[in-house]
Amino acid sequence: MQIFKVGGVVRDRLLGIPVTDVDRVVVGATTEEMLAQGFRPVGADFPVFLHPKTGEEYALARTERKSGRGYGGFTFHASPDVTLEEDLIRRDLTINAMAEDDQQNLTDPYHGQRDLEARILRHVSPAFAEDPLRVLRVARFAARYASLGFTVAPETLELMRQLSESGELQALTAERSWKEISRALIEDQPQVFIQVLRDCGALKELMPEVDALFGVPQPEVHHPEIDTGLHTLSVLEQSALHKQPLTVRWACLLHDLGKGLTPEEEWPRHIAHEHTGLKLIKAVNERFKAPKDCQELALLVGKYHTHCHRALELKASTLLELLQSFDVYRRPQRFEEFIGACEMDARGRKGLEQRSYPQADYLRGAAQAARVVAVQPLLEKGFKGPELGEALKRERLKALKAYKDKASA
Ligand code: CTP
Repeated sequence: MQIFKVGGVVRDRLLGIPVTDVDRVVVGATTEEMLAQGFRPVGADFPVFLHPKTGEEYALARTERKSGRGYGGFTFHASPDVTLEEDLIRRDLTINAMAEDDQQNLTDPYHGQRDLEARILRHVSPAFAEDPLRVLRVARFAARYASLGFTVAPETLELMRQLSESGELQALTAERSWKEISRALIEDQPQVFIQVLRDCGALKELMPEVDALFGVPQPEVHHPEIDTGLHTLSVLEQSALHKQPLTVRWACLLHDLGKGLTPEEEWPRHIAHEHTGLKLIKAVNERFKAPKDCQELALLVGKYHTHCHRALELKASTLLELLQSFDVYRRPQRFEEFIGACEMDARGRKGLEQRSYPQADYLRGAAQAARVVAVQPLLEKGFKGPELGEALKRERLKALKAYKDKASA
């Protein structure tokens, strides 16, 4: 049997990028031989094994054929006579279809190295279309390697467009899609992921609510970039520049969905878009079964981002309601993420990327002022149950009034 490193490990070594995952392909072996050598079988779908000592993945060379819709619809053929070249041709991109042996001798039948040098993401063969998830994967690789100058080959974008138009993306499971989306959002240029999905028509299929933002104008005084879709891309870009976590980036992507529902005669204003957007945010959250913290933050940012922008003008009672809505006393981190997302929204505007955002510290201060109100004296006065809650609210309101007065003095 012959063993080769394959896929991302070869690609990233040639790019000079640190490698984390090592995948290997085994040519000329049977399942029985692998088991006899102590390899542990994993995965019901494919003949993949874990090395008894290192735990790394070894897959038998295989060919694949699509036999139905969705990811389940695959038949594969793994046997000792499947060649390395046959295994490589079923893979997604030429830069992912290279293999190397222990001496780093490269097997590159589909010219991955040439495409690496030319900074091109190109599909290997028409077999690309057998797994629609690859549309998201290519967009994710485009986001990851954008800073190195990579772009998607026109013929690959065309294939992605055909796949998107065929409706095949609808067959992807929420789990597989979310894995790609979440990985793409934490790349350095997540906006490229969305842009590439849009360029091939996949965004309309996956997140029509986000796609609908392109072409929707906003008032130029607040939004010199005007277009809501472009604004959303800039907000995402800022979220990566500022190293925001996934929760914040997800909220950034969805914060303005309501603007896609504004009747044209109201353009460029978007009255109450914070509220109209909530059902769309909920729908996208649920479509991809986003984790609870992502879902929650996206809804809260959608609902309250304009509160944050107007923080310095808010009455003490409104400030208090805002803090209560976030349960800021028990969930300080979530409030911090909310402020982060709103700051990205403020900076994700053409020419305003460097602006100051005093609202952030102002709200942090307000949260602190409310948080330090002590419960003990109220308990000592005999308050309990709902009355204690009311008394606490009154004290916090007092504290916020004092905070406001001091801040405006
Ligand atoms: N692959 C594929 N089609 C998919 C998933 C994977 O062709 N839908 C192939 C590619 O050759 C890829 C390899 O399997 O390089 C390993 O997949 P994976 O570990 O998901 O990706 P990597 O390329 O290693 O990239 P990453 O750095 O994102 O893990």
